[in-house]
Order: sequence, then C-alpha cells, then structure tokens
Amino acid sequence: MEQRTQRAVDPHQSLHSETGGLPGEHPGRSHDPLIKTVGLAWLEFEKPDLAQAERFLADFGFTVTDRTPKALVLRGHWAGAASLVVRRGAKSRFVGPAFAADARADLDRLASATDTRVVPHRGGLAVDLTDPSGFPVRVVHGVPELPGLPERDPLQLNFGRDPARANGTQRPDRRAAQIQRLGHVAIGTTRFAAALDWYLDTLGMIVSDFLYFDGQRGRGPAMAFIRCDLGGVPSDHHTLAMALQPQTGYLHSAYQVTDLDEVAAAGEYLGERGYTHAWGIGRHIEGSQIFDYWRDPERLMFEHYTDGDLFDCSMQPGWAPMSVSGLAQWGPKATAEFIGARDPGVLLAAIKALTDKGNEIDFAALRGLIKGMSS
Ligand SMILES: [Fe+2]
Repeated sequence: MEQRTQRAVDPHQSLHSETGGLPGEHPGRSHDPLIKTVGLAWLEFEKPDLAQAERFLADFGFTVTDRTPKALVLRGHWAGAASLVVRRGAKSRFVGPAFAADARADLDRLASATDTRVVPHRGGLAVDLTDPSGFPVRVVHGVPELPGLPERDPLQLNFGRDPARANGTQRPDRRAAQIQRLGHVAIGTTRFAAALDWYLDTLGMIVSDFLYFDGQRGRGPAMAFIRCDLGGVPSDHHTLAMALQPQTGYLHSAYQVTDLDEVAAAGEYLGERGYTHAWGIGRHIEGSQIFDYWRDPERLMFEHYTDGDLFDCSMQPGWAPMSVSGLAQWGPKATAEFIGARDPGVLLAAIKALTDKGNEIDFAALRGLIKGMSS
C-alpha cells in the first residue's frame, strides 16, 4: 500500500511489470554512456570435444559456417554475424560475449577511455575489455556479415475472426530448429551493481525490467533485463540478463526461432535424441517470450524462444519482486533443473562468496535468493 502511495515519478507505461521505479531508485540508464552498442554480435565458448559440441549445436539448430581443428563457427538463418564461436579448450565453458559497435569511432572512443587498443579481429576490428564480473567483453565493428539462408515462413494460424488458412493443413516438420539469430545471454555475478553500471556506462545499454529481493527493495535491484538503446527503433526486451548470484558464471543463452510450432517441434526432436530438457514450454513475464530450455551434454543451458517483446528507448524500467513463479505467465513450474537448485556447488559457492571480500553477497542477499527460489 505504501508503495502505491509512493507512485513512481515516471510511471511504468505498459503491462511489462506492475510498477516503475520510485524516486531515488536506479534509473536504469546512464546519462552519458561512452558508446551505444547496437546488439550482441556473437558469444564465445570453449569445449574440450568439438565434434561432440557440433553434434549438439547442430541438433539445437545452428549451421556450421567454419570448422578447423581448433574452432567451430556457427550461425543462424538470418543475415548477420555468426552467432557462436566455439574454441577447443580444456573444459566446457562460456568465455564471454561480443557486442557490436555501430562505427569505428565507437571503438576508438572505447579504446582511449579504457587504455586499450583497437585490434584486427575476424576480418574486422575489436576492442577487448573486461567487465567488473571478470568476463572478457569484446566490442567489434566491421566483421564481414553472412548472407541469409532460406527458412520456413511462420505458419498461418486460424486465430481470430479472419482465419488465414482455408483448404490447407498444418504439418510442421519435427526436425532441428531453424535458428534465426542470437537473442540474449544471461549471466550470474557476485558483483551485480558494479557490472550493471558498467554495461550502462560503457555500452550505453538500458534496463527494461528490474527484479528485487522480496522485502528488500531498499537494497536496490538484484536482477536486470537489459536492452540496447536504438533510439526510436524497437530492440529486444533483453540482450543481456544479469542476476546477483553466489557464483559468477553463465546461466543460459537464447536463440530466436520463427513461431511456437518451431519451438515445440524442435523440442520434440531434441527429446527424441536424448538431450536433457531443463524447462518449458512456457511464456515468460519479463520479455514475454515463448520459451523452451535445454542442456547440452556438458550441462550448459540453451534456450529456443519466439515472440519476444521489443521496446524502443521511451520505455522506462519496470520493478517487480524476484520469484520463481514470476518467471512465467504460463507453463510448467520452473524446475530445480532450471534454477540450478540441484547444483551441489551452490552451497559451497555461497559460503565462499560470504567470506570473499569485494562482492555483493551477504546474508540478506542469500536470504533473498532462497526466498525467491521458493516462491
Ligand atoms: Fe532467456
């Protein structure tokens, strides 16, 4: 009730969350960012067995565009940069994201502000940074883009009063997805507040939705869904999702497919091939995507999604309490498999994070996380 009387200065103008920010809360954007990234270019991973990695990623819906003994490059169907670079490495791990800069001058500005250099990379140019969580963040420009591949059109649906399909049937193939493009990456970090400000100040990203620990709103946000600021051009509700967690690391990455039948039929295909289902099918609240989550053979999580929200720069951040039940509007309850509660390393990580200096994990944060995971 008190929150209602303290109604936001800039009330949240749509349905993506119940309330906007209160006076004095994090504004969700920087007033003077170094650059404004125009999107995720690709994600970089390491895998000990590239042949096994390729089998899963092809079954998940990627197309290999380059293969050497040391690296795989994989793409979606839409024109643009390849979505994944997978290098041979000692263990299976997410390395870091590459973001796209709109102009060479943006790379120059980044390099001079961070005392780094613009270097040649994959036929274009890059600046290599490190975020406060410790992830290497590559910002690229001018990397040659791939032409689009043919893909199936979205199915015509007989919804509403004006049906689109007469004398026709629906026969979506049960096969590997036709991934269109990389959508977002989600990471956990023990240094959430510092990392949040870094992405807003350095890459000019803006927050679509904040989540806070229920009963601890005064401590500030504990998760942010962050998009690119393309001005009046709508962009994905989140390109980066970041959450305060007892351990810093990759949570999942998400790839757009054309429609619900593609999500569902591709999921059937993955299930038939023996892969581990993590959670779905459902529709998220923050971002509204219809989602389905899978794990690769080394337990890294990958998401198929369709029908996500697109916001232009006029949308202010929403604020909502963090809860498992608040992750979806419909669908099965989020599984222990999805939220990582089955991970035996979580307790040890929590103890370590409490004793390590310089991070944002304290007893109140752990209480907030436990409450969120059980509500
Ligand atoms: Fe996601």
